[in-house]
Amino acid sequence: MFSTQADYMESGPEKIYSLKAGAPSTRLRQKCADLVQKATLSLHKLEKCPEAFMYGADPGATVFRQELAKFLTEQYGNTVNHEDLWVNAGASQGLAFIGSFLFQSGDVVFAEEPAYYIGLRALRDDLAMNVIGIPSDSDGIIVEEFEKLITEHSDKLQPPTEKKPYSAMLYCVPTFNNPTGSFLPGERCQKVIELLRKHNILAFCDDVYNLLSYTDGEKPPQRLFEFDDKSNADYKGNVISNGSFSKFLAPGLRLGWMEVPERVLKVLKTCAYASSGGCFNHYISCIIAIALQEGLVQDHLLMVRKVFHSQLNTLCDALDKYIPCQFSYQRPKGGYFVWVTLPSKVNCEKLYEICRKKYFVEFNNGSRFAASSGKFKNCMRLCFAFNECEIIEHCVKQIGLALKELLNC
Ligand SMILES: Cc1ncc(COP(=O)(O)O)c(C=O)c1O
Repeated sequence: MFSTQADYMESGPEKIYSLKAGAPSTRLRQKCADLVQKATLSLHKLEKCPEAFMYGADPGATVFRQELAKFLTEQYGNTVNHEDLWVNAGASQGLAFIGSFLFQSGDVVFAEEPAYYIGLRALRDDLAMNVIGIPSDSDGIIVEEFEKLITEHSDKLQPPTEKKPYSAMLYCVPTFNNPTGSFLPGERCQKVIELLRKHNILAFCDDVYNLLSYTDGEKPPQRLFEFDDKSNADYKGNVISNGSFSKFLAPGLRLGWMEVPERVLKVLKTCAYASSGGCFNHYISCIIAIALQEGLVQDHLLMVRKVFHSQLNTLCDALDKYIPCQFSYQRPKGGYFVWVTLPSKVNCEKLYEICRKKYFVEFNNGSRFAASSGKFKNCMRLCFAFNECEIIEHCVKQIGLALKELLNC
C-alpha cells in the first residue's frame, strides 16, 4: 500500500496506538476522499478544465482565492480579501518560503515557548535562524517578556532592505496553540501589534487550527492579523496569517494559504521560484475551489468539528479517570491538543519509553517543544484528533498504568 509519514518514521512489530500524530482519523480522511472525488468529477466536466493542468497564477488562481476568501470571511466573521491571499503547499511550506525569502540565516526569530517543535526545527536547523524563546503562560506569550527580549537582542535586529523589509520574525500559534491549546487574548494581541510595529518585526502566525473551534455558535477568537488594523495611522503590515487545509480536510492535499500585508505581497511578486513554477499547488486548489463552490468543505468542517469536540471530551474525561497522580491541564476551546503537566519528578522521556515498550501507546514529550533544552520535561502533548473515542480512552488508560509503574503508586 501507499506509505505514510508514520510508516517512514518508525516501523516495529507491535501496533502502537498514537496520541502523537496531529492529523484527522482514517474515517475522516475517507470522508475527505469522497469530497475530493465529487469535486474532481465536477472540475473535469468543465470546459475550462485544462486550465487546472496549466501553471497557476503565482499567488494562486483568482477563482480559488475568491472562494477561499468568501469561506474564511464567513468562518472568521471578519472580512478576508482575496487579493491578500497567497496559496501555499501547506503551512510548513509557507513557513519555509517566508523564512528563506524574507529572511536570511542568522536573523533573529522570537518564538513563543513552548512552540510547535517542527516549526522550531525548520527555523533553527533548516534556515539557520537565531531562535529565541519567549516565555508564555496559560494565555500564550507574556508580552512584557517579549519586550524585554527585544531590548536585550536589539543589536542583532537587522536594518530593513527592499528585499528583506523586516528586522526580525515572531513565530507563534496564537489560536488553539500547538502544543498548549491556549489562545492569545485580545489585550495581548493589541500589545504584541504595538511591539511589532515599533521594532519592525514580522509575526508569522501558524493559524492552522483557527477554524476548529468547539464553542458552539461562537466565532473563533480573532486572529492577530485582524488586530493589525489597516485603518490605524501607524499601520505598516506586520502580520502573516498562515492557514492550512491539513487539519480539517487532509494533510495529504498539501494545500494552504497565507494572508499577507501589501508590504509582503510586493516582495513575493518578485520571487523567481514562484514565477518559475507558478502557484505552489494549483491543481488541488482548483479541486478545492469547486468543493467550496458546492458547499462541500463547509459541510465537512461542521462534521469534523463535532467529531473532534467529542474526541476532546473523551480525552479529558479519560485523563480525569485514569491518571493516578496530581496533574493539571487546561481544557482547550479548539484545536487538536491537550497539554498535560505532571508532577515535577516525572520524566516524560522515561514515561514515553515505558509507554511504547510495555503499553504500546505513545505521546509527544513536552521537552520537544522547548526553544532551548531543559524545559517541559514533566509535560506531554496529547492529540485527540487522530483516533476514535474508544482508542483514545484505551491510550489514556495505558498511560495511567505506565505512570503507576514509574511512580510506584
Ligand atoms: C502549528 C503548526 N504549523 C504547521 C503544521 C503543518 O501544517 P501543514 O500540514 O499545513 O504543513 C502543523 C501540523 O502539525 C502545526 O501544528
